[in-house]
Amino acid sequence: MKKELNQMNKYGYIILKTKKMFLLKKVRQEYLRIAKKNGIKNSLEGLNRAKESQLNKLHIGFNRESKNCNFNLINSFSKEICKILGKKIFIQRQPYLRAKKHNLKSTATIPHNDYDFGHSHLGFNLWVPLYDVVNNAGIYIFDLNTSKKIYSRFRFNCHLREHIKKIKFEKKKRYLNLKFGEAVLFSNLCIHGASMTPGKFNRVSSNIHLQSFKVPINEKSTELFTIAQLNKNSFYKKIAI
Ligand SMILES: [Fe+2]
Repeated sequence: MKKELNQMNKYGYIILKTKKMFLLKKVRQEYLRIAKKNGIKNSLEGLNRAKESQLNKLHIGFNRESKNCNFNLINSFSKEICKILGKKIFIQRQPYLRAKKHNLKSTATIPHNDYDFGHSHLGFNLWVPLYDVVNNAGIYIFDLNTSKKIYSRFRFNCHLREHIKKIKFEKKKRYLNLKFGEAVLFSNLCIHGASMTPGKFNRVSSNIHLQSFKVPINEKSTELFTIAQLNKNSFYKKIAI
């Protein structure tokens, strides 16, 4: 069996390393272009002076008008993605951006899984930092088995964060200090989130949902996804509207 698939089945997530850095650099250029348009300059440090309203505009702007970032993101890791999802996939039309300023409370994301937000239980999220992540300023993740254990005892009578604390599973989360050029592909059933970090560490990442064409979609449908197929050069190309 394929190594990537084995690892995905075992842990519910896999760390990937690109061999096509030029594609990720194009994504970062798009971020910088749209950031500049919203008055934010100079990569990570520029976020220190950004207002919350500017960050919101940047997030929306990237989601609406970034060019080719969806395909540049997945084609950076297309060989590995193909081994896990196959040649024909559903791919999110426009990726999300998260530009996080260290001293904003909204930098933290409470633990959740993406299935609870209407994504397929057989789908995945590709999370890609656009700058190196240091000092646990990125996302954390619980592997698939641990996530299942957490949910098996969850009665939805408190927030998941409190439940994780109650059953003393907090230490089982793993922080992913990924470098620019790396990514994590994780199951929609894996619990993940981001803490507020004490240091002055900003973070910029993009993420995109995808799944095999063969497995059922959930509430998220063709409004969110289009269809793509791998060509002979190992690049996914759009084959639907
Ligand atoms: Fe999420």
